[in-house]
Amino acid sequence: MNKIAIQQRIYALRGELKGHNYQYYVLDNPKISDTEYDILLRELVNLEAKLAEPIPDDSPTQTVGFKPDTAFKPRKHGIPMLSLANAFSDEEIIDFKRRHQDILNDDATLTYIAEPKVDGLAINIYYEFGQLVFAATRGDGVTGEDVTDNIRSVAGIPWSLDADVPDKFEVRGEVYMSKASFAALNQKQQEVGGKVFANPRNAAAGSLRQLDASITASRNLSFFAYATGLGGDAFANSQSELLEKLNKFGFATQETALLNDKQAMFNHYQTWMKKRPSLDYEIDGMVFKVNDFKQQQLLGSVARAPRWAIAYKFPAEEVETVVEAITWQVGRTGVITPVANMKAVNVAGVMVARATLHNIQELARKDVRVGDRVVIRRAGDVIPEVVKSLSIDEENRAAPTPVPTTCPVCDAAVGQEPGEAAIRCTGGLSCSAQLKQRIKHFVSRDGFDIEGFGSKLAEALVDKGLVKSIADVFQLDFEVLATWEGMGEKKITNLKLAIESRKKIALSRFIYALGIRHIGQATATSLAQHFKTLKALQDANEENLLEINDVGPEVAASLRYFFAELHNQEVLQHMFEYGVTVLDDETPEVDNSHPLAEKTVVITGSFSQIKRNQAKILLQQLGAKVASAVSKNTDILIAGEKAGSKLKKAEVLGIQVVDEAQLLEWLS
Ligand code: IVH
Repeated sequence: MNKIAIQQRIYALRGELKGHNYQYYVLDNPKISDTEYDILLRELVNLEAKLAEPIPDDSPTQTVGFKPDTAFKPRKHGIPMLSLANAFSDEEIIDFKRRHQDILNDDATLTYIAEPKVDGLAINIYYEFGQLVFAATRGDGVTGEDVTDNIRSVAGIPWSLDADVPDKFEVRGEVYMSKASFAALNQKQQEVGGKVFANPRNAAAGSLRQLDASITASRNLSFFAYATGLGGDAFANSQSELLEKLNKFGFATQETALLNDKQAMFNHYQTWMKKRPSLDYEIDGMVFKVNDFKQQQLLGSVARAPRWAIAYKFPAEEVETVVEAITWQVGRTGVITPVANMKAVNVAGVMVARATLHNIQELARKDVRVGDRVVIRRAGDVIPEVVKSLSIDEENRAAPTPVPTTCPVCDAAVGQEPGEAAIRCTGGLSCSAQLKQRIKHFVSRDGFDIEGFGSKLAEALVDKGLVKSIADVFQLDFEVLATWEGMGEKKITNLKLAIESRKKIALSRFIYALGIRHIGQATATSLAQHFKTLKALQDANEENLLEINDVGPEVAASLRYFFAELHNQEVLQHMFEYGVTVLDDETPEVDNSHPLAEKTVVITGSFSQIKRNQAKILLQQLGAKVASAVSKNTDILIAGEKAGSKLKKAEVLGIQVVDEAQLLEWLS
């Protein structure tokens, strides 16, 4: 072995042994036996002796255990780490492209590579003779913080590169936390009273900056490579070739596309914006880079960003605004919810002016007050919510909004049941707010399904006193209705027909439409299947009710209370007088031979042929138990398009996963 070969082997052994020390001492998870470890260590001792050069203090021959002694020390990058310029509109992309054509020449062939912009933190990983030697955060671009020990547990980063790479080689990319790991971490933190992170990016940064590397390891961080530093120049001819090579070495890389014209770039951006909510990690835009490295070199850099790359940002999902008022909304069952009314802002492409504060505990925990600057968030299809208040200056803040003692709509007393976070209006159906919600629920698609009976009509009917209970839906005064603005003859005729045609109703729908507390669609279906007739359900005692799978004491009490209440009996009586007929349930007894009988299934994603709710009911009729979350008790996951974390979890747990085609086959 010549001197250089010895040197290289020494580096490789030091890197490898450090890795094993880390596995053994930090993670308690050795990857090799003690004997194998000793053989490697002895080889290193011999080679270090042969080389007869000073041995560094951190060589595994000089240390025992795993010393995180370099944690967060400054680390200079071999080549500065650049940042990216941002674009927020198609016009800025057109300008970006035009600048390239001006500098190169008008008809230069330009191909752009599009990469999602991962929302995490940039890391530089330094390899010497193919061994991971250290890793550092971006810092100010020139010097970062040493996070070598912590980076070793991040998925997507190899510790050694079995390939012909430059002796000194830097690989760069983004460390991030998946949405699933983020949710799991925050849940755990909440349970143990630890720090709850505002978003996956903060969680990733907080998790990487841990003095105890085993904590970082428990946080499930991941990595995507997107660039090289030192040693990168002669390594590939284009960004696409570079990513391909890095991927072959064992680095995780993202899905990319090569695009030749601006329209393709705009379309690609739109496609990914739509894809964004279903991805397992957060992205905040698309990065467009000139693909060819020679062209990149000609274009060069300005300030701290290259001219050849740009980040086309998505509209923010988190935005700041000001709370103008906190009001109280009364729901169908009387629950009173605090709502933040804010100066309207555009969040992820939608104007938002109101956001729920959930309940009085949440309101107190977030301590949101009138006049506060707040951060609001809307991720994907999720209802906007107030993340936090930014106002902490107690002296110049409004007092906390008092919890109402009477219903803001009907003035009835407000009550709170023991153990419940919610406060409720005790006004029952005499509260117009409750009545409005009740009517909307009653006529909704999964209830009586009365076409043309929308929210506005329900509200107007209550406001004008034409409807005083859900039974009145079948006793509308169409002559008065016809005098209302916008209520033409055709609308009235259609509404009459729609109401008439729905008077015969299946028992399960009827139970659901009544809006009894705790009775959702699934329970309504179980009740109908079990009792077959409304009469049997009304007559059921607690014992009979508890025989049903998804009926517990709370649900049983709620049902008994509903049917025992005199006013409710009257309303039902009126409905029958107005011609409503509840059909007995005809679902055959569950066929225990069906492959789904007694199986616990979870449905996720979207389906093209069937609605999720519909599938749920049909599955129940086949004897399956439909659960909402995947756990080790799940037998089957039915995954449609865009299935996300549930699918991942099922795969991890080794649960059987089937697609829509299989679902339809079972249902047929
Ligand atoms: S390239 C020379 N590609 O965005 C260009 N950066 O706002 C260096 N980022 O500091 C960056 N995804 O932390 C590049 N596919 C991607 C990226 C990406 C996320 C981050 C990176 C950078 C920041 C700039």
